[in-house]
Amino acid sequence: MNKLNPIGVFDSGYGGLTILAELQQKLPEYDFLYLGDNARAPYGPRSFDVVYEFTLEAVEYLFNQGCELVVLACNTASAKALRTIQQKDLPQLFPSKRVLGVIRPSTEAIGDLSVTNHVGILATEGTVKSESYVIEIGKFSPNTIVSQHACPIWVPLIENNKHFTEAGKMLIREDVEKLLQKDQQIDTIILACTHYPILKEYIQSIVPENVQIVAQGAIIAEKLHDYLERHPEIEQKCSKTGNTRYLTTENETVFSQNASLFLNQEIIAEHIKLN
Ligand code: DGL
Repeated sequence: MNKLNPIGVFDSGYGGLTILAELQQKLPEYDFLYLGDNARAPYGPRSFDVVYEFTLEAVEYLFNQGCELVVLACNTASAKALRTIQQKDLPQLFPSKRVLGVIRPSTEAIGDLSVTNHVGILATEGTVKSESYVIEIGKFSPNTIVSQHACPIWVPLIENNKHFTEAGKMLIREDVEKLLQKDQQIDTIILACTHYPILKEYIQSIVPENVQIVAQGAIIAEKLHDYLERHPEIEQKCSKTGNTRYLTTENETVFSQNASLFLNQEIIAEHIKLN
């Protein structure tokens, strides 16, 4: 894909593939370059400084591959690194390029989703501690009551394909119950980690019928579509041959095998080094 200008899609590992799948469906004419930093996942328990450093390395790599626009398809990176990259690094290093996250678009949509105005957030420890969802929902939907629960075991379970073992399902069920115990009026749960949509059907099957489980992918795809319409100066630079390349910092064969769980298609990944 040399000389192309794909849209970069970054995640700590496989989770961003749930976003990529929706982007490919909504914007099939565009080229995408996916990068999973699987060798250093999970990001959830890492400090702000480390997540920022790793995310900036990935963004620079994607820019150097020709991306004009990078989507951080990772809530943890969006919570801990996006603002600094947008405000400090881009103006100095890449003033014409753009980086977007997944938290703001998701919180903009929340007001239309909940009837009770009681919303639950399931996310990594890093995203929960950053309070990003509470702060952003407060801006767009100030009457909404937000309860959060961190699920530090979920990303390792998913990255290792152990999430649907009996033990895995029990751990997931316990976390969901802990969230619902915090507020019995919750009618909407946001899967605020891009790894979690792979669990959506299971979680929907264990919550009361009036509780809806919301994955971010379709929301992000819709918002990116709007963004490209509003920003022709970026949109015109994005190449459109309908191709996607997949990069991973882990072993490329392992990535290719596991990626099919998230994408329902065969892919061939390439190994890269970020540092
Ligand atoms: N997919 C990332 C997110 O949305 C996972 C974080 C991790 O690596 O712990 O937060």
